[in-house]
Amino acid sequence: MKTVLITGGAGFIGSNYVRYALEKHSDWRVVVFDKLTYAGNLDNLKDVAEKFEGRYAFVRGDIADREAVFQAMREHAPALIVNFAADTHVDRSLMEPGTFIMTDVYGTYVLLEAAREFGVERYHQISTDEVYGDIAEPLRSTEDDRLHPSSPYSSSKAGGDLMCLAYGRSFGVPVTITRGSNNIGPYQYPEKVVPLFITNAIDDLPLPLYGDGLQMRDYQHVLDHCDGIDLVLEKGQPGECYNVGSGVETRNIDMAHAILDLLDKPRALIRPVKDRPGHDRRYALDVSKLRALGWSSRHTFAQAIEDTVRWYVNNQWWWRKLKSGEYLEYYKRQYGSAGR
Ligand code: NAD
Ligand code: DAU
Repeated sequence: MKTVLITGGAGFIGSNYVRYALEKHSDWRVVVFDKLTYAGNLDNLKDVAEKFEGRYAFVRGDIADREAVFQAMREHAPALIVNFAADTHVDRSLMEPGTFIMTDVYGTYVLLEAAREFGVERYHQISTDEVYGDIAEPLRSTEDDRLHPSSPYSSSKAGGDLMCLAYGRSFGVPVTITRGSNNIGPYQYPEKVVPLFITNAIDDLPLPLYGDGLQMRDYQHVLDHCDGIDLVLEKGQPGECYNVGSGVETRNIDMAHAILDLLDKPRALIRPVKDRPGHDRRYALDVSKLRALGWSSRHTFAQAIEDTVRWYVNNQWWWRKLKSGEYLEYYKRQYGSAGR
């Protein structure tokens, strides 16, 4: 049995990867280490805890807490660390940059220290296409491009990436990094645009579209991202970064139309609102480096969005209880009267 420490495994992508990895690697034992912030949710792992009892353990802890991280390392002796833990929402980073620096930069440093001290076969960092900043058509960001982040979130992620590369170079920690585009699929917290728009549309609430809605994102299915991460763990070279995305960009307005059409709701639900400060216009990745390892995307945008809409329609038990308390306070602060 190989023990794998998956930090942030109770969040959206982390929980999808935990399920994916336990199904795929019958010789893996997964230890999820997660602080359970507002975005972390043990409901995301409910089926995993039941199905993989004996190969799955959960530890509640903060990656910025050195003692807690070192204790988990002593107790579980993982061969691999895969770090999904982060503060992840751009709009929240504009409200509270400090928490992003603590988790996404300092927390990454603590995990790298643990990897260095205890020794691991691989430390893998989950990063984002946002570290490149926006890019004009027809260009695509490659792994060697300069980092040019726009928000406190993306700057913190860029800081984390640079720390990983430094620990590889200076201390020989075998690090790899994947930089993924926007993920969609089951268990995404409904502050992110796709689940926000789906759940609002189900309830006939407005879809707050920032600015002119012509910004472009590469919305990929979370399981395609999981494939990419897993492949890099298996075949990626230490010290290297790999982009992961479908390579197809969709305008936000078209994404909103796709959701409304799938739910048979009127386009009049779209409500243009004030733009996000520093809003990146377009992300687009060159994914040839990952393709060269044998990766290809299994879902088109149409399949990914349809799968996602269906999941939210069928799993209202999961998201209805999230849209209360802290969520509503945040929603009011972010959207004011435009959100209702
Ligand atoms: P998420 O917000 O859904 O989940 C984050 C998880 O990290 C939660 O379970 C939370 O409790 C945990 N966490 C936060 N701070 C922590 C801390 N200090 N210590 C321990 N756990 C902590 O995030 P997500 O969308 O699943 O993103 C996961 C990773 O993927 C992040 O690193 C993010 O930057 C990256 N990423 C996300 C996307 C996307 O589209 N969502 C795309 C590319 C990369
Ligand atoms: O690109 C990868 C990144 O994708 C990840 O690193 C981040 O963790 C993840 O949150 C996501 O960042 P974005 O800012 O692209 O995602 P978000 O869902 O917040 O917004 C997607 C697009 O939709 C963006 O252009 C802003 C727009 N938007 C967003 C919200 C929340 C709206 O028009 N209205 C909204 O209410």
